[in-house]
Amino acid sequence: MKALILAGGAGTRLRPITHTSAKQLVPVANKPILFYGIEAMAAAGIVEIGIIVGDTRAEVMSTVGDGSQFGVRITYIPQDQPLGLAHCVLIAHDFLGDDDFVMYLGDNLLEQDLAAFVQAFEQARLSEAPPAAQILLKKVPDPHRFGIATLDTDGNVVHLVEKPADPPSDLALVGVYLFDRTIHLAVSSIEPSPRGELEITDAIQWLIDQGYRVRCELLTGWWIDTGKLTPLLEANRLLLEKIVTRIDGTVDDASIIDGRVIIEAGAIVTNSTIRGPVAIGRGARITDSFIGPFSAIGDDCEVTNSEVEHSVIMTRSTITDIPRLEDSLIGKEAVVNRTQLRPRALRLMVGDHCQIDVE
Ligand code: G1P
Repeated sequence: MKALILAGGAGTRLRPITHTSAKQLVPVANKPILFYGIEAMAAAGIVEIGIIVGDTRAEVMSTVGDGSQFGVRITYIPQDQPLGLAHCVLIAHDFLGDDDFVMYLGDNLLEQDLAAFVQAFEQARLSEAPPAAQILLKKVPDPHRFGIATLDTDGNVVHLVEKPADPPSDLALVGVYLFDRTIHLAVSSIEPSPRGELEITDAIQWLIDQGYRVRCELLTGWWIDTGKLTPLLEANRLLLEKIVTRIDGTVDDASIIDGRVIIEAGAIVTNSTIRGPVAIGRGARITDSFIGPFSAIGDDCEVTNSEVEHSVIMTRSTITDIPRLEDSLIGKEAVVNRTQLRPRALRLMVGDHCQIDVE
């Protein structure tokens, strides 16, 4: 079993961050989103991982490396244009060969361990009617945003449709799929969709139409497609919920640490209150500040005389004299300053290297 992780795409819904960074490398709970997917594959016993990379390939490749930090071997497969998820399978054929594989969308985060999902497919492949594919479904309140499945009364998948205006069900396709080699035939048999992409949803529908079996499982834990600000902050919240307190940095006597908090080595907390769940990265400096629940402060950030809550602040950014920053995503090496005394809450999405002076 191999894995194909998709880390290309333009990330238009997370601009301005994605003007300069890959959406899959935005951190949640201080770890790049993509790392969770790679770790899930490694935990499912998969060692050979292909990663599809697009315009942001240099950043992805330098951050992920050869996979040895995860105990896996990574092969990078460049995709010159974002031509769809099924197109990714098409260009990964040499890497995948005839092996079964998991396809994992690099911006998806799941609570559930995927080992059982992979094992269920391996088991079913040994049965008398082996499936050619297995999909994972989750009930969602907003089905027009996803690929949607219709099941028959026996729970078999009979129809799939991509982002329907009039959804036939509320069962969304989660971005984790299992395939055998038949999918290669499917992706080379379908035509681009109206949005000009080769849709994996159409390729799976092709399998169904040709009489192949497509298994499905319902996801029990949470699932987040992190491609936009609100779900990204939600993923950050859900992952911070699970942290266990670990304080490797320095906290002075005037500071208060309350609840579950991670403070990495080299971080310095001075005269501040940290109310968990909160993660503070290596070398960060928190001075005369309040860091409230569900905040992740990246490595080497500086927060001074400010209040931050329910926000993701990426590495080497500086927040100074901000009475309240909430529900925000601040890119790398950004500077947010206040120049006059007027207390109010800020909700910001700030790109990498930007400077915001609040008056
Ligand atoms: C893709 C798939 C969609 C699936 C979703 C899951 O959509 O096309 O079927 O439900 O991922 O995250 P995208 O996020 O690329 O628009």
